[in-house]
Amino acid sequence: MIATDDAMQLIAPTLDLPAGYGAALRRGGSPDNLRPAVAAQQLAQIAGDPEGFCAGFDDPRGQGGPVTRPDGRRVARPPSIRRWIWDDGICGTIGLRWQTGTEALPPGCPGHVGYAVVPWRRGEGLATAALRAVLPPARAVGLRWIEVTTDPGNAPFRRVIVKAGGVFAAPDPLPRATGGRDAVHYRIALSAEGGGGGTGSAR
Ligand SMILES: CC(C)(COP(=O)(O)OP(=O)(O)OC[C@H]1O[C@@H](n2cnc3c(N)ncnc32)[C@H](O)[C@@H]1OP(=O)(O)O)[C@@H](O)C(=O)NCCC(=O)NCCS
Repeated sequence: MIATDDAMQLIAPTLDLPAGYGAALRRGGSPDNLRPAVAAQQLAQIAGDPEGFCAGFDDPRGQGGPVTRPDGRRVARPPSIRRWIWDDGICGTIGLRWQTGTEALPPGCPGHVGYAVVPWRRGEGLATAALRAVLPPARAVGLRWIEVTTDPGNAPFRRVIVKAGGVFAAPDPLPRATGGRDAVHYRIALSAEGGGGGTGSAR
């Protein structure tokens, strides 16, 4: 568990909780807004191999099998930590992925962090609290900053990044890893060296 000052907590899945997570998936909560099929895949895994499902949530050494990116490419799985966003029930998921020893994004990965809140719990500040809560673990794995990417029209997501300290970096300066969509990039500094985005601005 990652403790926070808020009622919100980030928790690692345990065997008594996948059922609650499965109920959230069936109700329409998806852990991946770019790949809706992930919800059905996870429900199948929870039904068939709940232990494996829980164990696979954390992979800080990147030892899992290859992952299929939104653009269809299969790439090596980067080190990652994933957590459930919890506040009186499962409210969503947040994941951090990185490459060891560098802030460069893992190949094919649009950002260091991805998150989603179930539709019926949005607007409560949960995504903002969750994003703030993954910053210390990101610092702990050696990152001096993180990059967060979304499509330009995702106003709630952009607002969450700014509230968590993100600074606008640029529109689409990186190879498009979001399946060909336009993208905007933000940086969140984790140390003085991280810089806070230099000439960037909050937008
Ligand atoms: C983006 C998302 C995670 C936000 O979750 P959330 O828990 O509702 O976020 P928060 O409550 O912390 O903050 C949302 C902010 O966006 C604002 N917002 C909501 N809708 C908005 C809109 N249409 N235009 C502008 N701002 C908007 C809210 O007012 C709030 O800002 P405020 O606190 O200054 O009022 C959630 O909408 C979601 O899961 N979306 C689908 C998945 C997704 O897009 N993930 C991002 C890609 S990885």
